[in-house]
Amino acid sequence: MNKNLRKAVIAGNWKMNKTRPEAKKLLEEIKPLVASADGKIEVIACVPFTNLETAINTVNGSNVKIGAENVHFEASGAFTGEISADMLTELGVEYVIIGHSERRQYFGETDETVNKRTIAALNAGLKPIVCVGELKWERECAITEEVIARQIKLDLFSITAEQAKNIIIAYEPVWAIGTGLTATPDQAQEVCAFIREQLAKLYGKETADAITIQYGGSMNAKNAAELLSKPDVDGGLIGGASLKAEDFNVIVQAAVNG
Ligand code: 13P
Repeated sequence: MNKNLRKAVIAGNWKMNKTRPEAKKLLEEIKPLVASADGKIEVIACVPFTNLETAINTVNGSNVKIGAENVHFEASGAFTGEISADMLTELGVEYVIIGHSERRQYFGETDETVNKRTIAALNAGLKPIVCVGELKWERECAITEEVIARQIKLDLFSITAEQAKNIIIAYEPVWAIGTGLTATPDQAQEVCAFIREQLAKLYGKETADAITIQYGGSMNAKNAAELLSKPDVDGGLIGGASLKAEDFNVIVQAAVNG
């Protein structure tokens, strides 16, 4: 495996955190720290909808890109509380997290809606970060591979190889999110390599080798370097540690060196 075939991507997922002034402050802290990663890896902050405009203005001229945390699949209409892909692109948003386990767990997101949202995002020119991952119980029952294979197949249904090159896959074992329990580097590698095999089945090896696969789940300043040194772990989707500029930067620098 050649990691040079794809871009390393470190993305913060701020979840439901930060007001606009707080968002501006955190991004002002992050910008100079990660400036040295410019041209080497992609650095993204995915922020609440209310912070998107502030965030885009704050990172203007820097190497930090801004993403949203969700997007609806319809272009417009009676979908109270939802945000369309065009609304995001009009703001200058480039990335969007889709199918995060918290959306699946608390908001009834299914593989079908993840697939529809991913297609809508791609059609609007957004780059989706599509999240997959097994529950603790599923890992204990030794069906991690079945779960992941099913998610990849359904979430990417009808998406072409050309479109797939604009997608990032985030492997986030649900048992590792916000729990302080991290997958071991070998566990992360094993599943990220398995995801790449599934992508190769769908799109061929060349496309699969070009797709960035992130690990997410209690990745932090201490464990990032080892996780990111693995051949199929091309980056990270970071929750808690992305809210601390210094910690986030340690992870960014680990990816630069990984
Ligand atoms: P934590 O890094 O807080 O475990 O969250 C991971 C995550 O859900 C990123 O999307």
